[in-house]
Amino acid sequence: PTSSVCVLDAKDAAPTAPCGHSLDSIPGPTNWPLFGSLVQLLFKGGLKRQHEALVDYHKKFGKIFRMKLGSFESVHIGAPCLLEALYRKEGNYPQRLEIKPWKAYRDLRDEAYGLLILEGKDWQRMRSAFQQKLMKPTEVMKLDGKINEVLADFVKRIGVIRNNGKITDLYYELNKWSFETISFILYDKRFGLLQEHVNEEAMDFIAAIKTMMSTFGVMMVTPVELHKNLNTKTWQDHTAAWDRIFGTAKLYIDKKLNRQGREKEEDFLCDIYHHSHLTKKEMYAATTELQIGGVETTANSMLWAVFNLSRNPGAQGKLLEEIQTAVPAGQIPTAEHIKNMPYLKACLKESMRLTPSVPFTSRTLDKETLLGDYTLPKGTVLVINSQALGSNEEYFDNGKQFRPERWLEGKSSINPFAHVPFGIGKRMCIGRRLAELQLQLALCWLVRDYEIVATDLEPVEANHFGTLVPSRELPVAFTRR
Ligand code: HEM
Repeated sequence: PTSSVCVLDAKDAAPTAPCGHSLDSIPGPTNWPLFGSLVQLLFKGGLKRQHEALVDYHKKFGKIFRMKLGSFESVHIGAPCLLEALYRKEGNYPQRLEIKPWKAYRDLRDEAYGLLILEGKDWQRMRSAFQQKLMKPTEVMKLDGKINEVLADFVKRIGVIRNNGKITDLYYELNKWSFETISFILYDKRFGLLQEHVNEEAMDFIAAIKTMMSTFGVMMVTPVELHKNLNTKTWQDHTAAWDRIFGTAKLYIDKKLNRQGREKEEDFLCDIYHHSHLTKKEMYAATTELQIGGVETTANSMLWAVFNLSRNPGAQGKLLEEIQTAVPAGQIPTAEHIKNMPYLKACLKESMRLTPSVPFTSRTLDKETLLGDYTLPKGTVLVINSQALGSNEEYFDNGKQFRPERWLEGKSSINPFAHVPFGIGKRMCIGRRLAELQLQLALCWLVRDYEIVATDLEPVEANHFGTLVPSRELPVAFTRR
């Protein structure tokens, strides 16, 4: 069924009412009373292997399938034509699946919502306040100085902690690097996470984010009200973690915003605060969610890029050549240099295709929508599976191979809707350009100084914990060039 033609015919474009097949006729895995496909999913490795199960289901049922987990029903799409159709029909305020536990905390403490959970006009207002600074290429390029300041410390630290070339818990080191970078950009403050003796306050902030992230999953599949009313340990841990996160974020945002006036130079948060109509309360929520959205995703993408380069020395060699040509010896790589580095960009794209950090995102339909052959009712939760797209041979020849060249051969050969690691449309990741610049610069620094080598060639599986995390310490080492 994967190779079946994607039906998007004239009726799809017609302004008349949708007239496709009903939701019930969408194929899908076993749907047992009460459980839906939950038992089958558990047999396939449980929630932490759900990404693999979903790719298998796309192989079996094709471009669109329907699935129930307990009472939660979703429709999964994994074909460029369906994504394009969704994109073209998108309204002004696209919605993702609600993160109810986060909303419950904000309501409890009378805090605002940020971009990850806002909806409707309030979402649009906050999005436009941050859009220019984060999505305009010339604005993002200005952040390369801060990114590089942190990278200089990161590369220095790699040199110090290498033991026979290996780094114990590289993922943790990368998380500290991305945390330090985003904090420096947002609060204009160095936390010192890449120093030998790490400041306790910073470690507590990181630990709180980790606890908050590890406690909300359960409350996504069981009613959050129940946790709140019973005051379960999960709810207590979750709220205590948010208290610490908000406490620290507010402290630094206040320091930053109060310091303004005395300083004239450009500043990320102050510029947004003074040029938008966002309240301080909204600034707290928005900034905190940018921080949460930007740390693990970026660290995780870097981890997989390092892994892919370690297994593809040919590509790494070509990348080194490009870096040496574009960035004169002794100079620090900048956003300006990156403009002339197509192979670097292709390496990152290819890494995010083959080993994505965020395998899927979601949309809740705000109106009845005709998608391909089916009419989906308002309220349908769509899962947009970028991993299934990236691993589909129909869209990527020899898809299991890491081949950055595929992005440089004839621009039109890859459908843009087949590669969506940052999501699509108006609600696409707002940190995309910042993340790309950060990752591209990090690869320049690392590959220029170190050869990244594979220490074994056994498979590395991925577990789904919101992002796709390698199931074991990566078998890589860094050899000084
Ligand atoms: C949303 C991925 C880095 C902040 C998203 C979405 C994805 C994603 C898939 C959902 C988009 C959609 O539903 O269409 C990634 C990846 C990153 C990354 C793979 C790193 C490689 C960042 C950074 C920041 C950030 C650095 C902060 C500066 C956000 C926010 C949203 C979001 C706030 C919600 C946007 C909205 O709903 O308006 N990200 N992200 N992300 N991301 Fe990222």
